[in-house]
Amino acid sequence: MAKAATKFACTDCGYSAGRWFGKCPSCGAFGTLVEEEAAGAAAPSKPTLRLVDVKAEEGERIPTGVAELDRVLGGGLVPASLVLVGGEPGVGKSTLLLSVLRSISADRTTLLITGEESPAQVKLRAERLGGAADIGILPETELDGVCATLEAVRPEVCVIDSVQTLYSSELGSAPGSVVQVREAASRLLRVAKESGIAIFLVGHVTKDGAVAGPRALEHLVDTVLQFEGDRYHEHRVLRAAKNRFGSTNELAVFEMTGTGLVGVPEPSELFGRSVDGEVGAAVACALEGSRPLLLEIQALVAPTDLAMPRRVATGVDPKRLAMIVAVLSRHAGVALGQADVFVNVAGGVRIDEPGADLAIALAIVSAAKGAPVKPKLAAFGEVALTGRLRPAVQSERRLEECAKLGLAAAVAPSGTPARGKLRVLEAETLRQAVRSAIDAERPEGG
Ligand code: TYD
Ligand code: MG
Repeated sequence: MAKAATKFACTDCGYSAGRWFGKCPSCGAFGTLVEEEAAGAAAPSKPTLRLVDVKAEEGERIPTGVAELDRVLGGGLVPASLVLVGGEPGVGKSTLLLSVLRSISADRTTLLITGEESPAQVKLRAERLGGAADIGILPETELDGVCATLEAVRPEVCVIDSVQTLYSSELGSAPGSVVQVREAASRLLRVAKESGIAIFLVGHVTKDGAVAGPRALEHLVDTVLQFEGDRYHEHRVLRAAKNRFGSTNELAVFEMTGTGLVGVPEPSELFGRSVDGEVGAAVACALEGSRPLLLEIQALVAPTDLAMPRRVATGVDPKRLAMIVAVLSRHAGVALGQADVFVNVAGGVRIDEPGADLAIALAIVSAAKGAPVKPKLAAFGEVALTGRLRPAVQSERRLEECAKLGLAAAVAPSGTPARGKLRVLEAETLRQAVRSAIDAERPEGG
C-alpha cells in the first residue's frame, strides 16, 4: 500500500498544502488549516474501454420553455448536467428558473430546493408568473439531505437556489465559503451524473466578489450561465461563460416585467437605435454567437488635468479601449492625451468581439470633435495597431441585420461585399472610416 499523504486545507479559501501552517499562506487567515482525509490507499486497477467502442449519441435535450435560454444552452437542457446560473442578487435568477420549472413540469418531474425563500414565498412568485404548477418543493440547506433526496426522488430537472445556502456539516466553515460551495458543487455534479438529473444551481456574485461564488466553481460544473445587467434596468442579458454542450458566444436578452422575465427576440431593435445627430454615439454591428446584434455605443470625451487621464469602459474591455484610444491619437490625428474618455454600451450589454472596435472609435471621435456620426449608419471592423481596418467575420450577416433595421449604410473594412440596398462605405484605415462616417471631420488644424 502506498503511504497515505496527509493534506491540509484552508477552510476559508480552499488552499491546500502538504503541511500545516498557523497562518494560511494564501488568504492569510489564522488557524484555518485543517487536516483533510488522507486519500492514498492503492486503488485496484480498472478495466479500460476502447474509444472506438464508446457509444456517443448527441443525447436528448430538454426544452426549457424559454426559447432564449434554450439557445444559450446550445439547444435545450442536457440531462445529467450541472448548470450554474450566476448573477448579482435581484437580477432575476430565481424568477427565470421558476418560469423554467413551471414550463418543464407540464411533462416532466421537477423539484425546487430552496434555501433562500420559503415555499410560501415561492408560491407567491409563481402566482405572479401565471400560477403555481406541479413542481416539487423542498426547503433544505443541508447538503447530505439535498443529495439523498435527489437520489431518492430522481426528478428529471432540479433547481437549487442557491449554492451559497448549502452547507455540509462535515466541513467547519460557514455556508457560502469557498470550501463549502466547492464541496456542494462537486457532490451535486456527481449526483447529476449518477442519477441522470439536470440540475440548475443558482450562485450569487457580488460586484466586489465578496461572496464565494461562480468563479470558484467554474471548473467544476458543465455549464456556467451569467446573468448581467442590474436590477435598476429592466433589461437583462444572459450568456454562457462556459458550456460543455454548446457555444459560449450565444446571448439572450430578457426584459423584467410585472409578470416575470420575457425574452426579447429582436435585441437590435432595442439596443441598436441611436438618435440622429447625437454627438458621441455610434451604432456597432457586433456578432454575438450565431447572430449579429446592433448596439449603440456612447462616448464622452472631457478635458482633464489628470496626469493619467481616465479611460472608463462599461461593457467594453478596458484594454481594448486603451488600445483604440492610442490608435486614434497615433494614426487618426485625434489627440486624447489631455482628455478623460468614457465609453458605454447600451442596455448593459458587454461586447468582447473585436468587430465592434470601429464603432467604439467612431463614438469617441464624434465626442471629441463635437460632430455627430452620419444618420442611419452602422459600423463594424477590427482596428489593428497600425491603424488599418481588418475584415470582420460574417460580414454578410451583419449587413443583413443593418438592412433589416432600416439603416442606410455601413462603414466597413475594404473588401466587404455590398449586400442588397444597404450602402457599404469601405475604408482601408481608421482615418478613412472617420472621414466617411463623420461629416464635420476636418484634418487636424485645417
Ligand atoms: P429574483 O429572481 O428574485 O432575483 P435573484 O434570484 O437573481 O436574486 O428577481 C427579483 C427582482 O425581480 C425583484 O426586484 C422583483 C423583480 N420581479 C419583477 O419585476 N417581476 C416579477 O414578475 C418577479 C417575479 C420579480
Ligand atoms: Mg433568488
